[in-house]
Amino acid sequence: MAVTQRAASASEPHPSAVRNPYSVLPNWAYPAIVVTVLSLFGIYAAWVVLLNTQGRFGPYLSPFYSPEIRVWLIPPALWVAWAPLAFRATCYYYRKAYFRGFLWHPRSCAVREPERGTYRGETRLWAFNNLHRFAFYATVLQVAFLWYDAGAAFWGNGAPHAGLGSVILLVNVICLSGYTFGCHAFRHLAGGSVDCFSCHRARHRLWKGVTVLNVRHDRWAWVSLFTVWLADLYVRGLLFGVIPHGAWN
Ligand code: FES
Repeated sequence: MAVTQRAASASEPHPSAVRNPYSVLPNWAYPAIVVTVLSLFGIYAAWVVLLNTQGRFGPYLSPFYSPEIRVWLIPPALWVAWAPLAFRATCYYYRKAYFRGFLWHPRSCAVREPERGTYRGETRLWAFNNLHRFAFYATVLQVAFLWYDAGAAFWGNGAPHAGLGSVILLVNVICLSGYTFGCHAFRHLAGGSVDCFSCHRARHRLWKGVTVLNVRHDRWAWVSLFTVWLADLYVRGLLFGVIPHGAWN
């Protein structure tokens, strides 16, 4: 249903004067950080996916390239990137972040939006956000491959291996799992439709486990974004020869 916005009132405080009771930062700081970080990550990811064809150094595989699929001249990361992109773009938390950051929709709680006519909610193109659950299924599959890669990073040249890259890939998949399995859609799948928890104890336990991750979903979202970034930077640094390959055994 379309809702018409209220007209501005001269008696209301200027947006910059409205303070978020949960933060000491000014109300433009959070949107500015979101825009800066997501823009930089987006540019970096586009460069990796579209303009690079290598993502492996020894036992280390960049998360952008997992699973490794090579068909004809198509950049291998293109086969993979759509899943995490769709997952994050339709994530309930990221939707809040980018609506606030890029569209000021609104930029903070209790701050008036810029005048833009009729509010239509997540309709038209935004209706694709309803596909989040399907992006979740695809991402679970990818996380399974990433766990395999993290294990494989502890095995090189037919023998056990350990290095900084092994640890980075392991930390990355732990953070990605914390983000993926704290998903709101997964929480609903686990226990959202159960009316009697004592009749479905396994689902209740699963729901409680997902809830532990879900209450910090925003933090898992950011931390896992940075670990994906770090993991690829590390592999790319090794590929370009700008950092030494430090193995500990
Ligand atoms: S709601 Fe954030 S990943 Fe599903």
